[in-house]
Amino acid sequence: MRLLQVILLIFFVTMCTPRDGNVQKEQGVIPAKVDSLLALMTLEEKIGQLNMYNGTWEFTGPVPQDGNSQEKAKNIASGRVGGMLNVLTAKGTREAQKLAVENSRLGIPLIFGYDVIHGYQTMLPVPIAQAASWDYEAARLGSEIAAREAAASGIHWTFAPMIDVSRDARWGRIMESAGEDPYLSSVMAKAWVEGYQGDELSDLFTIAACAKHFAAYGLAKGGRDYNTVDISPATLYNVVLPPFKAASDAGVATLMNSFNELNGVPANGSALLQREILKEGWGFKGFVVSDWGSIGEMITHGFAYDSTDAALKAIVAGSDMDMESRIYEKALEDLVNQRIVSGALIDDAVKRILTIKYELGLFDDPYRYSSEEREKTEVGSKENLEGVREVARRSLVLLKNENDLLPLEKNVSSIAVIGQLASSKDVPLGNWRAQAVANSAISLLEGIQNAVSASTTVRFAQGYTLVSGQRDFVHKLNVLKGDRSGFKKAINLARQSDVVVLALGEDCYQTGEGRSQADISLKSNQEELLTELLKVNKKVVVVLMNGRPLAIPEVIQNTPSVLETWFAGSEAGNAIADVLFGDYNPSGKLPVSFPYHVGQEPLHYDRKNTGRPVPNGFDSGLVFWSHYTDIPNEAVLPFGHGLSYTSFEYSDLKISKKGDGVEVSALLTNTGNRKGTEVAQLYMRDMVASLTRPIRQLKGFQKVSLDVGQSENVNFVLTKEDLSFYSTKGDLTFEPGAFQFWVGGSSVASLTGKVDL
Ligand code: BGC
Repeated sequence: MRLLQVILLIFFVTMCTPRDGNVQKEQGVIPAKVDSLLALMTLEEKIGQLNMYNGTWEFTGPVPQDGNSQEKAKNIASGRVGGMLNVLTAKGTREAQKLAVENSRLGIPLIFGYDVIHGYQTMLPVPIAQAASWDYEAARLGSEIAAREAAASGIHWTFAPMIDVSRDARWGRIMESAGEDPYLSSVMAKAWVEGYQGDELSDLFTIAACAKHFAAYGLAKGGRDYNTVDISPATLYNVVLPPFKAASDAGVATLMNSFNELNGVPANGSALLQREILKEGWGFKGFVVSDWGSIGEMITHGFAYDSTDAALKAIVAGSDMDMESRIYEKALEDLVNQRIVSGALIDDAVKRILTIKYELGLFDDPYRYSSEEREKTEVGSKENLEGVREVARRSLVLLKNENDLLPLEKNVSSIAVIGQLASSKDVPLGNWRAQAVANSAISLLEGIQNAVSASTTVRFAQGYTLVSGQRDFVHKLNVLKGDRSGFKKAINLARQSDVVVLALGEDCYQTGEGRSQADISLKSNQEELLTELLKVNKKVVVVLMNGRPLAIPEVIQNTPSVLETWFAGSEAGNAIADVLFGDYNPSGKLPVSFPYHVGQEPLHYDRKNTGRPVPNGFDSGLVFWSHYTDIPNEAVLPFGHGLSYTSFEYSDLKISKKGDGVEVSALLTNTGNRKGTEVAQLYMRDMVASLTRPIRQLKGFQKVSLDVGQSENVNFVLTKEDLSFYSTKGDLTFEPGAFQFWVGGSSVASLTGKVDL
């Protein structure tokens, strides 16, 4: 090490007390350190901090001889790189960190990011499933587990949570979201951010979060990934932005912008989003990272002429870090030297990034997260497995349960477990599965085998075939429609067994990035198999595995019991068995509407009334109303729907003014014969406003556990702000007048009353 380097390192290390991140923030210690470091940096080093590379080689081995990797290694060693993604393991991150810290002039540590979307190695249910828990604690626990494992493996930063309000089931990434509703997405955003980040970033068991994709990526036309987004300002402010505001208020360290254009301007080049709304409006102090190569994609969008123009537009608009388009490293220095981009703009971006690195404690010890010992004990620990099982059980949604077919007796004499998905140890791990070990999940079949009595016979038949794969394989699934080779065995088993548990749904790679589908019905011949099984045994329980709402009205209609299990993670089979056999009384609720047909998409409950709302249902014979002539407007299964093994009743609605706001309460009673947990939901309609308001909006919910016969008052207090909406300019506006409220167990709750405010 050269002398100057040693002196500088000693200087940073001695400046690093006290170690508590929050204390340092409050006392202004970190800002002072950032300023001192910035004063030492050359322009090239500053731009280096804005540059993020993909880790294209194993850092525990030699740098490959290809030009690209060699150039990357050289740039890391000379301080021209601020962060990396996809560098893995405690050992790998340590080696990569060494390259930067021990070779570059100032020894500034790298920040390591990774897509820890629903777990690192121990898999949680996919995010849409976690949202189905409607449970802050469960979602928070989930991201705490993910953070513990990732942090122990040298990761400092996750590219999660994805909080794009997603209302189109065709979009493959709906699986990564909290669903269609801005309020529920905001609650989940807070839970996920607080789970990943804990009380302070410097804690060794937490990592920095990244709320993405800013903004409106979930509203792509036609549900086609990366497609154009063209929405009104009212939708932007009222639907898209609230979860991001919630994440920002929860102290999220970073945001990722998005691939899409929003009303003609690619998100990367949007000063409205990144500067006006986020940094100036909400006072966000963290940094914004681009999505993969998306600064460069502004050229393809037809928004920038070339790399130089793209760099200029992105930095001016407030994109702080360039993920892998390698445009900032090429173009920014010249732009500053020619005084086209001001040095102050660069300094602002650099400061934001350095601040997060200080808060993570990386200047105290750049290797502090990369401990192989901790990695061994933390990743995949028993405690983490128990945690993900708990989150998984809370994420399951009982969609239908005729004649109380569920829960099943553990000593039932025979069960036919049918369907390829039932034996899969891989599909429940979901897509975006980080370091999950392939085929490591507890399958549904195993879960059932683990749960039943010694005298129960459990037999399996595959029934249908779904091919799996990482790439475009969906077209192949329909080719399998004609293959009935597995039917005979399945039908025989169904005939001979007391009850049938049939797994239906999607392969996990049917959802996720780049996995949009125009057809959201069941692939292969799954529905046909169900029809055949029902002919020989009426006691069929369908267990759904899927990452999006499916258009399966007939499955819902014809099957007595249907349990939605999404992709439930490492402990999927055990968690599902917990519910099937009544060890856990289901409490999940749908965070998305299930349509009759894909033609209804994007389908969401909080639609507008229109000037011609359909008066008597779709088959009323009336023509000139806002309706389809072949199917209802509504969902088969509405947002917020979810059953329990007990039943709940709502009564005694009370609405009263409270200060500037309103208080709404109702009596909730457990009217069934088991203890259970209900998610009581509050919906509101602002009857007349200068911008028309949705026919219902979720405004609050509470999870309440009640014993048999027990009642409890559920009470919601809404402030003036809660009763307000955003104008087309983004101002929160309260307009007095009539408001209607509903309290109940789903978005079609009927207990209602009005108040004039
Ligand atoms: C995705 C992001 C992800 C990034 C890095 C992109 O393709 O859109 O959500 O974080 O890749 O892997």
